[in-house]
Amino acid sequence: MSYIEVNNLVKDYKINVKKRGILGSMQSLLIPEYKMIRAVDDISFSIKKGEMVGFIGPNGAGKSTTVKMLTGILMPTSGNIITGGLSPHSDRKKNAARIGAVFGQRTQLWWDLPAEDTFDLLRYVYKMPEKKFKANMETFNELLGLNEFISKPVRQLSLGQRMRADIAASLIHDPEIVFFDEPTIGLDVVAKQKVRDFVRHMNKEKNITMLFTTHDMGDIEKTCDRMLIIDKGKIIYDGTPDDIKKKYAKYRTLIIDFVEKQSGIEIPGVEVCEDKGNKVQFRFIKDEVSAQELISSLTKKYEISDFTLQEADIENVIREIYEGGIKCDENLCGVC
Ligand SMILES: Nc1ncnc2c1ncn2[C@@H]1O[C@H](COP(=O)(O)OP(=O)(O)O)[C@@H](O)[C@H]1O
Ligand SMILES: [Mg+2]
Repeated sequence: MSYIEVNNLVKDYKINVKKRGILGSMQSLLIPEYKMIRAVDDISFSIKKGEMVGFIGPNGAGKSTTVKMLTGILMPTSGNIITGGLSPHSDRKKNAARIGAVFGQRTQLWWDLPAEDTFDLLRYVYKMPEKKFKANMETFNELLGLNEFISKPVRQLSLGQRMRADIAASLIHDPEIVFFDEPTIGLDVVAKQKVRDFVRHMNKEKNITMLFTTHDMGDIEKTCDRMLIIDKGKIIYDGTPDDIKKKYAKYRTLIIDFVEKQSGIEIPGVEVCEDKGNKVQFRFIKDEVSAQELISSLTKKYEISDFTLQEADIENVIREIYEGGIKCDENLCGVC
């Protein structure tokens, strides 16, 4: 049974159109002009209890707006959201006790105080029994190493430390659902890995339902069983990271450096996807064209100085989907 149910969700923002120049600014002040932006455009999906779902899309795709509606911060323009039987916006108070949220670009910690003071405050806000609070803090400390920096003012923490503290703060009250909005943004590789491992651990151990928003495919591959791809406010893929890889990793790319400039090379079953004269990129389906035969037929005809054979990786696949180069496969995607 689904735990989060989203139906035909739409969010429009009304924005003030500012005219240029001093005269324009004065005109805008006196007679403001508005236009509407559709940030989320009729999306529907459901998430089961305990599922860990990655929500991926380029900047401006509508990820944060969706998360803000799911947490009850923003009211939808139209459509419905039910999370665990409640409407996040109308039942805000009840809902708040059951959810946790991390907005990567903002902190919920008190900036001038040590992080431990925020934890004490949260304990009071959520009326947590001391035993439970201590046990959770111990777990977080073990997995996130909070003790190294918990008594320093938050403004003195590194981004990675601040993010670890923020993530712990979002989970301190044992929420049933947690929304992470870009929790790895700006982190280095080691800090990213710590966050990914921790999030995965909490999902598995405590069966917390999680939605993880990111524009970093690595986050999804390492943490999520299912992913939703959003672009221009619409969901364009709903399926597993593996399926999308299996389907599109069937392509290989061969990059050949020719000694001399070549033009108009045509090989049946092989597409020239980039031609810079001396350097040409060929793309082909690996089950249909043998890379070895392709290389040997090219070396017979042309003088070659170097070559590289690349398997399609998931980042490329996603990029091509964003750019509209690949249409989703109806058999794989729950959306199209
Ligand atoms: N408060 C706002 N007022 C007006 N437009 C907004 C506001 N927040 C976001 N937008 C616009 O809505 C679209 C989606 O933004 P957002 O949900 O932040 O995308 P993402 O999180 O995927 O980067 C963008 O075009 C953005 O400029
Ligand atoms: Mg965002």
